[in-house]
Amino acid sequence: MQKIYNIMENKLKNSLKKIGYDTNNVLVSPSNRPDLGEFQYNGLMTLAKEYHQNPRDIAEKLLRVLEEDNFFKNVNMAGPGFINLSISDASLIELINDDDYSYPKNDKLIFLDYGGANVAKALHVGHLRSANIGEALKRLCEFLGYKTISDTHLGDWGRPLGLVLYELSRRHPDWKFFDKDYQGEYEDVTITNELLKEIYPYASNKAKEDEEYLKCAQEFTKRLQEKERGLYKLWQIIMDVSKKDIKKNYDRLNTKFDLYKGESNAHDYVPEMLEYLDKQNIVIESEGAKVIPVSEPSDKLEIPPMLLIKSDGGILYSTTELATIYERVKSANPDEIWYVVDKRQELHFTQVFRAAYKSGIVKDDTKLEFIGFGTMNGKDGKPFKTRDGGVMDLTTLLDQVKEEALKRLNENILENREEIAEDIAIATIKYADMLPNTETDYNFDLEKFCSLDGKTGPYILYSTIRMKSILRKAQEQNLKYAKFKVLEGNFTRDLILTLSNFDNVLNNAFNNKSLSDITDYLYQIATTFNRFYTENIILTEKDEDKRSSWLYLTSIVYKVNCLLLDILAINVPERM
Ligand code: ARG
Repeated sequence: MQKIYNIMENKLKNSLKKIGYDTNNVLVSPSNRPDLGEFQYNGLMTLAKEYHQNPRDIAEKLLRVLEEDNFFKNVNMAGPGFINLSISDASLIELINDDDYSYPKNDKLIFLDYGGANVAKALHVGHLRSANIGEALKRLCEFLGYKTISDTHLGDWGRPLGLVLYELSRRHPDWKFFDKDYQGEYEDVTITNELLKEIYPYASNKAKEDEEYLKCAQEFTKRLQEKERGLYKLWQIIMDVSKKDIKKNYDRLNTKFDLYKGESNAHDYVPEMLEYLDKQNIVIESEGAKVIPVSEPSDKLEIPPMLLIKSDGGILYSTTELATIYERVKSANPDEIWYVVDKRQELHFTQVFRAAYKSGIVKDDTKLEFIGFGTMNGKDGKPFKTRDGGVMDLTTLLDQVKEEALKRLNENILENREEIAEDIAIATIKYADMLPNTETDYNFDLEKFCSLDGKTGPYILYSTIRMKSILRKAQEQNLKYAKFKVLEGNFTRDLILTLSNFDNVLNNAFNNKSLSDITDYLYQIATTFNRFYTENIILTEKDEDKRSSWLYLTSIVYKVNCLLLDILAINVPERM
């Protein structure tokens, strides 16, 4: 793929140099006056100021040079010195004929922390965005040539586990797991996921009402963190069951992790880290606890110190967080670590990141990035609940959307209805989830998201399948195409120009960590393609050059669509 903006910007730079202006700062953008040109360059006013000259005079000279370049056609000036540019047909044909859309590999390593499932608790809708956004960002990094490592960072070591273990000890006081002094073999027990899903909410509610109960559960958390033999063994059984269920959910979302580590793994690094921190002289005592002060003079709001050790000696979420960074630097030494987590956890990450830099656990040039996402609410804008008012777990939500997709599925499709509906459901959810800005809250509107019109997953899938079906029919009718030859037909030019934005869109998405750039772009491609498709009757076109050019163009649009959907971890079903 040719990088059209780079080409234009270099041409402008060189042309300016030719007429005596040296600048590195040349930015070409899509035109907001398409009647005057396809692209515009608005930098002459600034340049003219620098040289104490009139921008229109520079523009006159620049136009004379650009007119000589047959990459462009119709270059002109507007207003006080805006340059409008359009691309010549020949250049456009060359652009679209370069069908390599891949990027070279590079050595930068980006570590992505997303998913964030909690053991012994069902995945709920709050985990959805982390999985969707995180997986897509990871795939985007890989597509652009970066190395990545992904980790779920399971919540497997804190309060919920203490609650579950304590409740189990009340129901099965005879189990040897709970006997501190027991040395022998433990009994075979069956812990199911259904049990865990029942037991955690039960214990959590009980702890809210009953202080004594809460105290006992906290005691269990502490005993677990001390790795008391029986509790640790039972915890491992719970971990196995729970992890399998978590993986099943992530599979449905096409989300894969290199590592299924969690807070518990970081625990092993805590003593070593504490020793290291001691040498840095940054830990202070405060009301019996150990903390790292992290406030900075420029803070508008006071940032409280990061809690390292509680006054009872226990460790916290922030302790394992910092220890996880310590471990990741030691084991992988990434250039950047990205955290895709609910934006309400921002303060936690501000504290931990500052502590990590201040202590030297990470070097100054290692980038720690918090990518906080907003909440998905119900259609009414209130927290998303099940019909009976409980927290909506993820499986229920996915099944609901799948049911709706099945209802809407074309009745002529007789085979694989379940699989197709599943693909559509996941596309529906993911597209809707990545359409708003990451940090924006949005409301879940089943009707709207499932619609075949507008900015929806089903619309994008439908268009993609249409492209594929044209190509399949061409093959069946033995219609050959190799390269793009003639620029004819309505919306052909628009479609090529839209495609030529590929590199720009992906780089913006990467730099701003913004997937809405990609969901938006997919919509632009689909609408432009559908216009092109309506205007040009591809398969029955008699003129062979036209037909094969249109088929070639369709094959490129299809390819680009599939690449983009794959970055978003959206599967394209055979039919719909
Ligand atoms: N388990 C946490 C939660 O459900 C999210 C973990 C996010 N990642 C992290 N490194 N803290 O809220």
